[in-house]
Amino acid sequence: MNHAQQVHISRDMCFVQAHAKINLTLDVLGRRTDGYHELATVMQTIDLHDTLCLTATNEHKVQLICSQPELCNAENLAARAAQAMRQHIGSTLGLKIELYKRIPMAAGLGGGSSNAAAVLLALQRWWQLDISQVDLLNMAASLGSDVPFFLTGGLALCEGRGERVTPLNPYWPQSMRWLLLLKPAISISTAAVFRQLPVSDYTDGSHSRAVCDALQARREPRIDDLHNSLERSVLQYYPEVVQAREDMLRAGAPYVRLSGSGPTLFAPFSELEHALHVQHQLQNLGYEVYLSHALSTSQV
Ligand code: C5P
Repeated sequence: MNHAQQVHISRDMCFVQAHAKINLTLDVLGRRTDGYHELATVMQTIDLHDTLCLTATNEHKVQLICSQPELCNAENLAARAAQAMRQHIGSTLGLKIELYKRIPMAAGLGGGSSNAAAVLLALQRWWQLDISQVDLLNMAASLGSDVPFFLTGGLALCEGRGERVTPLNPYWPQSMRWLLLLKPAISISTAAVFRQLPVSDYTDGSHSRAVCDALQARREPRIDDLHNSLERSVLQYYPEVVQAREDMLRAGAPYVRLSGSGPTLFAPFSELEHALHVQHQLQNLGYEVYLSHALSTSQV
């Protein structure tokens, strides 16, 4: 079960949804010789999603049209994924990608990576390609560290630079039924956050292991284990994130965590009423806030 479940195909066009993720944990274990960092992170896809429509054209190239014009370039991961797939199969078929963005950009929610995985899966199904899982994973990993996760989505432990994905049995605690996401009005470069990270913020992976163990035993994880190694440093460098975090807590969030390299913060709620109340307060302060929930792989 994966994103392909959500691919709607006819002969000339193909719609696909690309979901966002949050990081329940993000342990940075150390710096690697290739410049990346070794990670252990528990990720979960959520219902917030972008929509892509792929259509066949006679122009022998990949065209991208995006609801956010600043994303409309050849560097866009959706366009790069289509190029990678065409190259892999030696195709010159023309393709137009229309991308309707809802997931905020450069936000720590994996929007670009999810778009890339959605394009790979959609083309695989639409063009009925016989591509091995290994080739698909390699193509995904060459596009970005988070892209392989989005090939399966749901709940997973991701290791290495993020590309080694172990799906976990779906279990999501009641206390986290509803998720409020707040996107401060800044963008953060993932590369810059990793570059600035001091060694003292590295961890040994025990938070991710503990959260995996708890979820697999269908237990609530300990709040202290919902740890993100990047959070302290992001709070140090970005006062907007500190302010947003304080405002979320003051509005009634039980606790608040950074997703990925941020700046998006999330807070869990067991009751819709409580989540809506906090959402309205934060919207009244002028924040961009999303009410969302976790998706199991059968829903992705
Ligand atoms: O793989 P991706 O292109 O998404 O990563 C963006 C940047 O984040 C990388 O260029 C790298 O600087 C940093 N990164 C890292 N370690 C990881 C993943 C990303 O240092 N495991």
